Amino acid sequence: MIILAIETSCDDTGIALIKATGKKRPKIKVLSNIVSSQVEIHKKYGGVYPLLAKREHEKNLPIVCKKAIKQAKNPKIDVVAVTVGPGLEPCLYSGVNFAKDLAKKLKVPLIPINHIEAHIYANFLKSELNPKKVFPSIALIVSGGHTQIILIKDFGKYEIVGETRDDAAGECFDKIARMLNLDYPGGPAIEKEASKIQNTKYKIQINLPRPMLNQKNYDFSFSGLKTAALYQFKAQPLKIKKSKAYIRAMAYETQQAIIDVLIYKTIKAAKEYRIKTIILGGGVSANKELRKQFKTAIKKHLSGVEYNVPDKKYSTDNALMIAITAYYHWLKSKDKNWKKITVDANLRL
Ligand code: KG4
Ligand code: ZN
Repeated sequence: MIILAIETSCDDTGIALIKATGKKRPKIKVLSNIVSSQVEIHKKYGGVYPLLAKREHEKNLPIVCKKAIKQAKNPKIDVVAVTVGPGLEPCLYSGVNFAKDLAKKLKVPLIPINHIEAHIYANFLKSELNPKKVFPSIALIVSGGHTQIILIKDFGKYEIVGETRDDAAGECFDKIARMLNLDYPGGPAIEKEASKIQNTKYKIQINLPRPMLNQKNYDFSFSGLKTAALYQFKAQPLKIKKSKAYIRAMAYETQQAIIDVLIYKTIKAAKEYRIKTIILGGGVSANKELRKQFKTAIKKHLSGVEYNVPDKKYSTDNALMIAITAYYHWLKSKDKNWKKITVDANLRL
């Protein structure tokens, strides 16, 4: 079957088409996957401005849709899928309204998809979802809006065992990057600066806290880290804080502090729940150091546990992950009838 999926929960307008086959062993063929990023527009605000993003989505959707269908060679579409939450409400509405019109025009069902679940399913492009081999699993979803440790007991059976109490990890990257006068989005900008630390002649030692590391729960707090970074920054003379050595040291320490808490808590949860796989997803999981250090930590602390992380380009927002999730929902649904399509900016798993 052919699925056309739409993603507009934040500042990326995404449309993808897939050909999905097989019931027991699903196979996904990507026909097209277009992400039209609004980064340049939101750069000057240092973050996403929702009403502006909505306007851009409305402008982009027909163009991206046409392009995605053309790239897929005009197949007969069987189903439309769309992100209904969580995300920025005005942005979600632009995608959902467009999807409703399209499904009506094509006379096909419309499947509502949870964005967080889709970040999990981005992993099943490379490997098939075999519930016997994959579950129970611990997923760490780290993005600009969310940081959650999710226990997946079986298909569709989720339990959030830990999450951030304030800012998301991606938000922390973005805010500290802004303070350091680096580009938006902050995650890739900090990653780039941090990687240059070896080339810095005058190394500066900075110590930022690892919030909530020693607490028994699986929750996070990244707002404290941001504040600590801000105090550190304010205490420096102008000459220092504008120097390459300082910016690189701050980027390096910010990245490492975030990586340390994410890995420590995820491994701890994985041990407690005796899981078979660890799944990563969300924009922050594109971070090279995080991916590398996770692999090492799993090898060291969780023998026999498989490590799944999507290709870098599928870690950040895209519609392909929405399409894959929709196919698994299609397979699981008995009546193939999704009547209630409602936007929910705070949708939870
Ligand atoms: O999943 P995503 O594309 O959108 C949301 O659902 O929020 O995640 C975006 C977040 C941003 O905060 C961005 O700074 C962060 O992911 N991010 C990264 C990297 N690439 C994107 N953070 C760290 N390292 C990266 N390479
Ligand atoms: Zn996302």
